[in-house]
Amino acid sequence: MESTCVRVPREKGEGTRQHLADEGVLNRDLRIQEEDGYLYIPVTDVPDDLPTTVRRFDERDDETDADEILGYEPRFETVGDVALLEPEEDDEAGEALVEADNGISTALRVESAVEGRERTRRMSYVAGEEKTRAVHREYGREFVVDLTDVYFTPRLAEERERVASQVSADETVFDMFAGVGPFTVAAAEAGADVVASDINESAVELLRENAARNKVEDRVTAYNEDAREVARRVAGTADRVYMNLPHSADGFLDAACEAARDGAVIHYYDIRHEDDLFDGAVEEIRGAAADAGYEVEVLDRVVVRSYAPYDYNVCVDVRLV
Ligand SMILES: C[S@@+](CC[C@H](N)C(=O)[O-])C[C@H]1O[C@@H](n2cnc3c(N)ncnc32)[C@H](O)[C@@H]1O
Repeated sequence: MESTCVRVPREKGEGTRQHLADEGVLNRDLRIQEEDGYLYIPVTDVPDDLPTTVRRFDERDDETDADEILGYEPRFETVGDVALLEPEEDDEAGEALVEADNGISTALRVESAVEGRERTRRMSYVAGEEKTRAVHREYGREFVVDLTDVYFTPRLAEERERVASQVSADETVFDMFAGVGPFTVAAAEAGADVVASDINESAVELLRENAARNKVEDRVTAYNEDAREVARRVAGTADRVYMNLPHSADGFLDAACEAARDGAVIHYYDIRHEDDLFDGAVEEIRGAAADAGYEVEVLDRVVVRSYAPYDYNVCVDVRLV
């Protein structure tokens, strides 16, 4: 249908849309159009301070996307039906994500980097249902997560699959920093017996719930204890050790070696500068392994994801021999 509209360069689109919404003249029944670097924003009345033109617009059907509502793409990731907005996104982005037809019920804004021993992030409520829990699905598995109480990122899904694909049914796996159990559950599904530890009580409760949800609780033993203490329980029986505590895993290499049996594989995660992605990490592992009487065979060096400008989350897979 034909409507009066405001024409603005694309980069001014969000500010203008917001201004028109504040003035109460934004026509939300029609879709914003983009053409040749300009946005055409339909209005219900002629605004006092902006020139207008007339144009044909499509009516919004039920299938709206957040970027159609906003006129730009908001930056966010989803965990289950919760959208986690980047800190710089404003409330409108969260409201649009909840309003759009995309299965999102809640929008939270990420207010801090991952911090503290439990590696959690602060979040603030923006829109939709007031909750911090979500059920996230990846590779056919389901994980209950509390987004403010525990660490969880969907960005490691592929990496979890990579290491789980190496697990065979008769293994004992030690997941030292297990969180809500995404590595643990994947390994248990591959048939391993998994011992998991985490110092975060909420994470361990959710890990147990997630093991049951994915029907692998019989193969998972979880301890709400420091990984060092649990390494003493595992003592020389682990065929595979997950060390997913980037930044600090080096301080636990001696415990990993204590838990490992001869020939065990260690998946060691680290954050490394692009100038030295792997060598420094391999040296750390070699040093700790030598103290425990092992040599190290490097099996793989993997860039898992970009972490910050010039920094990468990497994994080094080694065998103790
Ligand atoms: C980066 S998160 C990884 C969680 C999980 N592996 C995942 O991929 O979602 C690290 C976890 O280690 C736990 N943690 C930190 N220090 C620990 C320690 N000394 N012993 C056991 N767990 C620890 C934190 O509570 C957090 O849940």
